[in-house]
Amino acid sequence: MAKANTEFPPGPSSKFSPKLLRQLTTDPIRTLSEFNQKYGEIVHFKIGRGHIYLINNPNHIEKILIYNHKNFKKGKRLQTAKRLLGEGLVTSEGSKHDNQRKIIHPLFLPKRITSYGQIVVDKASVMSERWGDGATVDIHKEMMNVTLKIICKSIMNYEIDSEEAAKFSSALEFSKKYFKRLQHPIGHILDHFEILPEVSKSRESIKILDSIVYRLISERKKSKSVIDRVESNLLTGQEDDLLSRLLQAQSSTENNSEDDLEYQKKSQRVGSLVTPNSMTDQQIRDNIITMLIAGHETTSNAITWTYYLVSQFPEIEQKMFEEIDMILLKSEDSGKKVYRNPTVNDLPKFKYIERIFREAMRIYPPVWSIGRLVDEEYVIDKYVIPKGSSIIMSQYVMQHDGRYYDNPDEFNPDRWTDEFKRHLPRFSYFPFGGGIRGCIGESFAWQEGILMMATVSSHWKLELVPNQNIKMDPGITLNPKNGIKMRLRMRSNGEKLH
Ligand code: HEM
Repeated sequence: MAKANTEFPPGPSSKFSPKLLRQLTTDPIRTLSEFNQKYGEIVHFKIGRGHIYLINNPNHIEKILIYNHKNFKKGKRLQTAKRLLGEGLVTSEGSKHDNQRKIIHPLFLPKRITSYGQIVVDKASVMSERWGDGATVDIHKEMMNVTLKIICKSIMNYEIDSEEAAKFSSALEFSKKYFKRLQHPIGHILDHFEILPEVSKSRESIKILDSIVYRLISERKKSKSVIDRVESNLLTGQEDDLLSRLLQAQSSTENNSEDDLEYQKKSQRVGSLVTPNSMTDQQIRDNIITMLIAGHETTSNAITWTYYLVSQFPEIEQKMFEEIDMILLKSEDSGKKVYRNPTVNDLPKFKYIERIFREAMRIYPPVWSIGRLVDEEYVIDKYVIPKGSSIIMSQYVMQHDGRYYDNPDEFNPDRWTDEFKRHLPRFSYFPFGGGIRGCIGESFAWQEGILMMATVSSHWKLELVPNQNIKMDPGITLNPKNGIKMRLRMRSNGEKLH
């Protein structure tokens, strides 16, 4: 609770206002952007009894995320997401988090990331082969599907088939919608009434996701030879994936801090197979589901919004095609173009696609805000922020701020010169967050975005179907509300991918 003599920073009202709650629920992005313009770098408001501070200064954000990160915990929305993600890498705290990050980190070292490049190109090619000239697709659905396949194969060596991917996606879609409802002031109360169809369906969705993940765990456990090698540390690079790393941690006792033991006590829920003194199956489940969701939803949103933007700017699209042709075109004969597939070695050459992708993540940051809970009283400027307050730092707000970007709403990949990047304060562009809780998959995401665009756009031009109501749907990630329909046009009468 705030002390009586605490001076609050400027803001809409230091008292709770139902109107404000309505604005924040219906259009949080617009509301927070207006606060930035109207009240400045530190904004205060109240929701219910909670004090909320919106921070719009890159140096303060840097201090919160990097230098003083120990002073904060993950924000309220992620606390709710624990219902789905459990205590995996995104939601856990303290030594539990650090320990899990240590186990998972080697999968994201540069050498490993490079080895995932071919998977991106293969999956993008298969998707692209399926497409037909003149057909209409929802590019968001296509991207959700292909990025799920990519993450499953890359970090779990698992080929998820289209049917299972569709089942996973629709269960995830429902869970996300439901978690949004839980943010509503009476959402938590309604959640106790399993008789309500939405509530029982949400339980059902989590069961579907769990059944896919637990099957994977038990299948891997059954393959005894892998387990033996896990235990004797004899894995080859290909077998050293997320599941084997987590199983290895399960079979070793050295990870058992007090937090681990506490976690194991708590996690004897929902069918977990607890092994004494080890990581539980529940904990393995939490990390797998976390990586699958964090590793595909964000990238699919990023690529979807990128295509949406490119489709509206023919000159930018043309420049992108020219770059692709320069790098990938093998031959051209009477309008028939033959391309080779891109490889990771081509990545440094796709300078323009990189700028497009960077600019698209500025305009539509796939994670549009980061929340934190203040664990110990914290001082910013002349303000004392009491323990228990919430902090919001919004990528969307900062990345549309005219102090850092000329014509901030304009899609202009060319703004990203080396000179511009050098002068930009670090936390005026932070789609991947930063510090100890920064995105573990950042390099993976850059590689995936660029290789996906290069592979798809060497053969297809994506035209926006007219008269659609394209709207942002800001949950934890920034989805397009009703998907985005695109008409597929083959770029030349050339051969398709091979
Ligand atoms: C364009 C794509 C992506 C964006 C914009 C993005 C963004 C972010 C952001 C902003 C955070 C920090 C959240 C916070 O501080 O509260 C984060 C964390 C995380 N991301 Fe990503 N991400 C992307 C792709 C990926 C991929 C491909 C993976 C996995 C393969 C991944 C896995 C994670 C994990 C596990 C965390 C939690 C890290 C920790 O707390 O230690 N992300 N991401």
